[in-house]
Amino acid sequence: MATIVDDISRTFDEFLLLPGLTKVEHVPSNVSLATPVAKYKPADGGPKHKLNIPLVSAAMQSVSGSELAIALARRGGSAFTFCSQPIESQVEMVRLVKEHKAGFVVSDSNLGPDVALSEAIKLRERTGHSTIAITENGGSSSKLVGLLTSKDYWEFKDDLTRPIKDFYTPVESLVLAEEGISLTEATELLWKNKKECLPIIDKAGNLKSLVFRKDYFDHKSNPDELTDDHKRLFVGAALNTFDYLERGQALVDAGVDSLCFDSSDGYTEWQKTACLELREKIGGAVPIGGGNVVSKEGFDYLVREAQVDFVKIGIGGGSICITREQKGIGRGQASAVMAIAAERDRYYEETGVYVPLCSDGGLNSDTEMIVALAMGADFLMMGKYFAQTEESPTEKVTYRGRLYKPYWGEGSNRARNWERYKQSDRHELVFEEGVDAFVPYSGPLSDRVDVTTAKIRSTMCNCGALTIEEFHRVARLTQVSEMTLVEGSTATVEQLDRMYADRR
Ligand code: IMP
Repeated sequence: MATIVDDISRTFDEFLLLPGLTKVEHVPSNVSLATPVAKYKPADGGPKHKLNIPLVSAAMQSVSGSELAIALARRGGSAFTFCSQPIESQVEMVRLVKEHKAGFVVSDSNLGPDVALSEAIKLRERTGHSTIAITENGGSSSKLVGLLTSKDYWEFKDDLTRPIKDFYTPVESLVLAEEGISLTEATELLWKNKKECLPIIDKAGNLKSLVFRKDYFDHKSNPDELTDDHKRLFVGAALNTFDYLERGQALVDAGVDSLCFDSSDGYTEWQKTACLELREKIGGAVPIGGGNVVSKEGFDYLVREAQVDFVKIGIGGGSICITREQKGIGRGQASAVMAIAAERDRYYEETGVYVPLCSDGGLNSDTEMIVALAMGADFLMMGKYFAQTEESPTEKVTYRGRLYKPYWGEGSNRARNWERYKQSDRHELVFEEGVDAFVPYSGPLSDRVDVTTAKIRSTMCNCGALTIEEFHRVARLTQVSEMTLVEGSTATVEQLDRMYADRR
């Protein structure tokens, strides 16, 4: 007969945190959300590889493109670009993030000098940008001839059929800088000359980029920005266990900061072979994560045999996931995190090596995220949460007056990521393990992440913790009964009406 493990699959919502002593130093501004992303020996010093906030985006087509990767790294987390695409396009995504120079923007609003002023107004309405670069041929990298801002014309008074050259500030009267200037120097020039925009040109006078005064303030408002040693934004990438040698090397050459095998079940000999061979090929500079696993045996195998740098936990909990329904396999995410965190702590006692854990999938609310961190996760991977944001790679759609974004699983027919699922010896997806859906649009990533991290900080203060490592140690959780859930939920409008009527 099969072994029935003495355990019930639990979810995060079944637990509540008990407050610990909050001392005067326990205020949100003192809390650090920095967290390791690769194994290290605390006795030898702090972690070399870390995130500034414990959030990473899922390696999925509908989630992690370069725009989202840039937005998330600017907030302190990291995206894992998806591997269900050709090597060249994944490398291009990583390259775009690494080449993103915060503050230097390639101009996307450009016109030629002979175009009518009405065209500038149309362009402004379309892009929302009131500064337009005027170049010889109207492109973003031809010779700069001037700059047109909304202060240069009066929309309802000027003759809009006249050419832009009658209105713009010509290049001779602009403050300019040459390519190679640092952002600090560019900011100084803007400040000294009281300008809003500084065009950057090459030796031949061709436009390269623009630096805006407002971006300086934006930079100041991203204090957790996550960068590498060369001040380039941090970005991760997923790998499969098929073309990992070629893909892994190409991603490392493009400057990737962290790699992770992306598999629905990582407790396999394929993952061990792939991880060891890849490590041999790329050396030790870039961390390699493994997963997904849900048991202590899976953790031990990946850490001791495959020698991964971090372990990703989760099977069947993803919001678009139908693996449990299709195959009857998986584990409640809270049980999986608790079992593996206990094993990780045992491994640390034995070896002195701390292995970070990533809880992946099924986090539907900020409270679940907080509980996952308290239970021992070092960082959290999410798909739906990020798919809903402005920066995810899909277009917004309107349905019955509400905004939505498409979100589909890697195991859906739409993604056809057969490498992640290995359902047969043939290279194809035989049955679906994910759905193709729409999720409500939630606005800019930064707004959402700011609220989530504020809540994490606040709860950590309630529990008397200033770091995630301390949170793991001091957190005390209680399991909730169904009646506790009813007690804790907000009264419905009907209930409130009834209470009001009763009192009268
Ligand atoms: P979410 O945050 O609940 O939306 O879950 C995202 C996670 O679900 C990903 O990081 C993957 O681990 C997992 N996942 C992605 N696509 C699929 C799928 O098609 N089936 C099952 N799990 C998936």
